[in-house]
Amino acid sequence: MTEWATPTLIDVPAVHDELGALGVVEKDYPFPYDLKRVYFLYDVPSKAVRGSHAHKALHQLIVAVSGSFRVNLDDGRGNTESFQLTSPDKGLTVPPGYWRTLDNFSSGSAALVFASEVYTPSDYIRDYDEFVAWAQA
Ligand code: TYD
Repeated sequence: MTEWATPTLIDVPAVHDELGALGVVEKDYPFPYDLKRVYFLYDVPSKAVRGSHAHKALHQLIVAVSGSFRVNLDDGRGNTESFQLTSPDKGLTVPPGYWRTLDNFSSGSAALVFASEVYTPSDYIRDYDEFVAWAQA
């Protein structure tokens, strides 16, 4: 479970054969929480910066199912880390408490996001200063 406590690139199970590849994300494995929502980003302009928020309780797994993009994470306590997602067979775990931006979207890229909660606006922190105060409290 340590790979879900801090942002980590994990393997996404996949079945490869001569007809292509099939990736699988299920509740329990590799997603160790209730899998309550899946959403996806596509048609994102290459200059767009998405995200710019943090979650108080949500656990996510982010997969570049097509193309590539970058996920930039900030724990509000001076630690930042960026991950370039380039392959459907890797996913980035994002625990609660990380300010995230997504940028550098390649043409035709798509981000598939697996989430432990349904859409809950009150779980979002959308103001960076408020996030830092929350993270350091
Ligand atoms: P937003 O969280 O701002 O997108 P991103 O962080 O990827 O840049 O969400 C964009 C819009 O979509 C906003 O109006 C909220 C809405 N939305 C839903 O209705 N349901 C969802 O599950 C998500 C993630 C967003």
